Amino acid sequence: MGVVPADEAVIQSALVRAAATPVARPRSGGSEAASLPSSASSASVRSSTTPGARVPTATTDDGQNSPTRTRAPLEPGAIPASLAIGEAEGVGPTGRPRPEFPTPAPLDRHGPARILAMCNQKGGVGKTTSTINLGAALAEAGRRVLLVDLDPQGALSVGLGVNPLQLDRTVYNLLMESDIRVEDVMLKTDVAGLDLLPSNIDLSAAEVQLVNEVAREQSLARVLAPVLDDYDVVLIDCQPSLGLLTVNALTAAHGVIIPLECEFFALRGVALLIQTIEKIRERLNPQLELEGILATMYDSRTLHGREVLARVVEAFGDKVFHTVINRTIRFPETTVAGEPITTYASSSAGATAYRELAKEVLAR
Ligand SMILES: Nc1ncnc2c1ncn2[C@@H]1O[C@H](COP(=O)(O)OP(=O)(O)OP(=O)(O)O)[C@@H](O)[C@H]1O
Ligand SMILES: [Mg+2]
Repeated sequence: MGVVPADEAVIQSALVRAAATPVARPRSGGSEAASLPSSASSASVRSSTTPGARVPTATTDDGQNSPTRTRAPLEPGAIPASLAIGEAEGVGPTGRPRPEFPTPAPLDRHGPARILAMCNQKGGVGKTTSTINLGAALAEAGRRVLLVDLDPQGALSVGLGVNPLQLDRTVYNLLMESDIRVEDVMLKTDVAGLDLLPSNIDLSAAEVQLVNEVAREQSLARVLAPVLDDYDVVLIDCQPSLGLLTVNALTAAHGVIIPLECEFFALRGVALLIQTIEKIRERLNPQLELEGILATMYDSRTLHGREVLARVVEAFGDKVFHTVINRTIRFPETTVAGEPITTYASSSAGATAYRELAKEVLAR
């Protein structure tokens, strides 16, 4: 599924709206409800926005040139239905009816792989956590999965128990040396069906060295092409920047998943990311689609978290995955353990959420 032109105007105008109307800051004391918009105020913001308005530039993204809008105070007790604590039966945390996603049917053969880039230039939003755990959940569902660590921080590799300092070959060698193949770099993880192309700090040099290469944006696509028939899904963990490595991920990918932390400022910068995706689709990779927006680190107990999630759904509509990842300490624990939550705490809510996400991704 892609951003069809009709959707595009809606998303863009919603992004303009979202960038121009900051989510109310969580308060240290007093009633959280006072910071909520009433449904009437949301409607007036909506009607005052020109459909198809230009997506804010990097400058407006910072909010500096954006018109300031004030939101009407909330009438006491007027909590929008979509934010009410305890969702109505059949309604998910995103405020929409939650469909049943089918259990993935077993496969008797594999490939060709769908390549998904986990991308957001904002740091610490759950890209790596989602790459590991979605990958593990897909593998658990019988898919052959290749994870690509495209971040010189090597967090994906660490999160799967690999010591980045002890690697002979990494994605850096794969990208920069023509005689190195995926099999020379690939590591099997402890999860059956889940393979890893690891990275370490060496990869930071690739960002600079690739600049002088012919077809520099296609380097990753070129090296992955020979193994696509061996896998069902390839997940690329991007670094928090829109530099050349991320451009390589977006050029290789069929789809982009944007993890968004359900926190203040979540939507800042997303307009720039969407613009970048559009440019790459136009110039380098016509097949690129926005696969979905994944809400992460959600805390349904706070009104602030629920309001951010409502705003994300307002901006992106059906692009938002029904599956939402809750904030839980189990995820940082899994990094220390060096394994996915699906094996570390198999019956935890976090593991269940990524299994649901795997079903949803396969159903899209
Ligand atoms: N759902 C969650 N609940 C609580 N903590 C989480 C959750 N998801 C991720 N974390 C923690 O938040 C931190 C950042 O997560 P992660 O590394 O996945 O983000 P990232 O977007 O990959 O960051 P970077 O931009 O630095 O690559 C990590 O310590 C991780 O364990
Ligand atoms: Mg990361």
